[in-house]
Amino acid sequence: MNILLFGKGGQVGWELQRSLAALGTLTALDFDSTEYAADFSHPEALADTVRALRPQVIVNAAAHTAVDKAESQSDLARTLNATAPGVIARAARERDALLVHYSTDYVFDGSGQQPWREEDPTGPLNVYGRTKLEGERAVIESGARHLIFRTSWVYAARGANFAKTMLRLACERDRLNVIDDQFGAPTGAELLADVSAHAIRETLRDPAKAGLYHLVAGGQTSWHGYARFVLEQARAAGAELKASPETVAPVPTSAFPTPARRPHNSRLSTAKLQAAFGLVPPPWQHGVARMLREIL
Ligand SMILES: NC(=O)c1ccc[n+]([C@@H]2O[C@H](COP(=O)([O-])OP(=O)(O)OC[C@H]3O[C@@H](n4cnc5c(N)ncnc54)[C@H](OP(=O)(O)O)[C@@H]3O)[C@@H](O)[C@H]2O)c1
Repeated sequence: MNILLFGKGGQVGWELQRSLAALGTLTALDFDSTEYAADFSHPEALADTVRALRPQVIVNAAAHTAVDKAESQSDLARTLNATAPGVIARAARERDALLVHYSTDYVFDGSGQQPWREEDPTGPLNVYGRTKLEGERAVIESGARHLIFRTSWVYAARGANFAKTMLRLACERDRLNVIDDQFGAPTGAELLADVSAHAIRETLRDPAKAGLYHLVAGGQTSWHGYARFVLEQARAAGAELKASPETVAPVPTSAFPTPARRPHNSRLSTAKLQAAFGLVPPPWQHGVARMLREIL
């Protein structure tokens, strides 16, 4: 089986290179790949890449993920997050390939306190969320067989992430102020990649499993709870920090004005994923603790 991966160098793309390798022959591309076009800012060329490689499965982990920058780069964000996935999806449809695509909790408006279900009404608050929603629609409207996974608060050991930022700040300062009125589940790129590989196998066997799913780690927290957990783990591992879990102060979102508005309620229900694929996402603390053991 031929598998084509776009966005191989990102948090999720990097882990997908590992998890997809056992499923077949993997061609993994990034925007500067030379042999095949994979720059999402030139979407039409992506169809040529699909036609040339003739994949049975296409996985798209590339995106414009800079949420605040997207506010002033809406054309580029739309090209990367909506136009390019649409081109890939139509090329997948031509070949009857299965397309795997990732989306976000930011398609919702963040109201209420209940975990969002797949069929709940969307209402993005920012350019990133709007363009990601347009990308979902482009994939669905193409008629391609697809798996779309909406996820949240993605981290990986590789590259920058919230936990690393908290560790750095905790080395520099006695006290930290962290937002405590946005709720979600930190979700590891490893988990996303492993579940994706499992779901691909299941969906190739049973095409009725194709569709849109919420995929996040178990449980929920705020950025404040997440930061405290990171510092607790670091302290237990013997890291020398100026700040402690007790000196992480909760503050409202309004304390950190940003160009993009962010949803307060990013909780996503994984009931549909659990029922379809027989998987139970582990508590978010498991993956974060594991990532911290790798980086500390
Ligand atoms: N990160 C999160 O918290 C989060 C939350 C919810 C959903 N998601 C979704 O999860 C998926 C994976 O996200 P991630 O966290 O792995 O993001 P990421 O680390 O930012 O990776 C995105 C990838 O897209 C690539 N890219 C950027 N511009 C490109 C272009 N013009 N052409 C081709 N590739 C380009 C990036 O390359 P460079 O690194 O070289 O720029 C990078 O490899 C995305 O669909 C994202 O929307 C992420």
